[in-house]
Amino acid sequence: MKNIVILLSGRGSNMEAIARAGIPGARIAAVISNRPDAKGLEIARSFGIETLALDHKAHASREAFDAALAAEIERFEPDLVVLAGYMRILTDAFVRRFEGRMLNIHPSLLPSFTGLHTHRRAIEAGVKVAGTTVHFVTPELDDGPIVIQAVVPVLPEDNEDSLAARVLAQEHQIYPQAVRWFVEGRLSLENGRVRVRDAQPGPLGW
Ligand code: GAR
Repeated sequence: MKNIVILLSGRGSNMEAIARAGIPGARIAAVISNRPDAKGLEIARSFGIETLALDHKAHASREAFDAALAAEIERFEPDLVVLAGYMRILTDAFVRRFEGRMLNIHPSLLPSFTGLHTHRRAIEAGVKVAGTTVHFVTPELDDGPIVIQAVVPVLPEDNEDSLAARVLAQEHQIYPQAVRWFVEGRLSLENGRVRVRDAQPGPLGW
């Protein structure tokens, strides 16, 4: 059984998609939020998953918070750490500790539109396709090796919300897929490059 620890800061719909996927061989050992009021914590509890709120505001520095967070995560002996709408910049020490076993999902086709407000910026830039990316986490923000992407059209009538909803539906498909590959031992990071063994490509590749 592979232990998964999921970090989030808010709504928790990606966490829910992973929990609902019921991935054989995977156990969501804990869901941890840096925001005590995160909706995702309630959802996790409704699935019977252990939850923990660790308020970043109660720590003196980013380093102190990340050290405390890492210690809590380690208690669950994670094989994989999944960032699912976890909205804090991570320290290098934290990233190195979980290198090769920490995934993130970002709501754009990386390397375009790193950072915040991706959908608004995509519409403003006039791009005709948008999407989402699952990647391994490296110290540089939104920069790690890409595991899987999904593409959606940007329609002339789109606003930030309509585009976000279209992208989110894809996130709920590709994140469980990436986690499943990892749990099956088919996805790994080798010398900084993503390796996926024996996986069937989707209609747009991966
Ligand atoms: C998702 O769209 C995810 O890609 C994004 O936050 C949302 C979380 O939604 N993550 C980032 O922007 C990370 N930089 P959720 O809480 O419903 O899963």
